Amino acid sequence: MKSTEVTSCCEIVELGLESLNELRALEQTCFDYSWSEEQFRLGLERRAFYIFGYVLEGLLVGYLAYSRVLDEMEVLNLGVHPDFRRKGIARELMQALIKQSKETEVRKGLLDVKRSNFPAIALYESLGFRQVGVRKKYYPDTKEDALLYDLEI
Ligand SMILES: CC(C)(COP(=O)(O)OP(=O)(O)OC[C@H]1O[C@@H](n2cnc3c(N)ncnc32)[C@H](O)[C@@H]1OP(=O)(O)O)[C@@H](O)C(=O)NCCC(=O)NCCS
Repeated sequence: MKSTEVTSCCEIVELGLESLNELRALEQTCFDYSWSEEQFRLGLERRAFYIFGYVLEGLLVGYLAYSRVLDEMEVLNLGVHPDFRRKGIARELMQALIKQSKETEVRKGLLDVKRSNFPAIALYESLGFRQVGVRKKYYPDTKEDALLYDLEI
């Protein structure tokens, strides 16, 4: 793991293939419909996406997967272990990504979120993301609409 930010008890680190098992386990606790090990492996190997992990006293409790193409980044997945929610972990992960984006001249952030996911929507809107569209019945698991958001960085 490469450290990008360190405090006394926790750190946000960039995760690689060595963290696959931990990532998969965390993902399965966060989502009913989760990425397979193969999806994680290929994405990381091909650098199709990058992952920040939030490590608390040695335990991976949150992660954020994002991609970057030219001056745009996209939030692909964000999850925090149910025992560690409402402690500001997702906000810190998102802020780390926005800070890195500013430092690397990324100009725009994109994401999609299920219409019913009020916690995530509240987080994204509090960070300045604004809704720019809807994709009807977008998600294969629930056929729910996706709300599309962007952020000018
Ligand atoms: C969405 C999720 C990542 C939030 O993680 P978290 O670490 O608990 O979030 P934070 O503590 O950083 O909260 C940040 C803000 O999000 C919003 N929020 C988070 N959980 C909320 C909830 N249960 N109800 C309402 N708002 C909520 C609030 O605006 C909160 O700010 P506040 O605490 O100042 O009010 C987490 O609930 C999760 O993993 N959910 C399952 C996976 C998921 O849906 N991921 C998003 C996919 S798009």
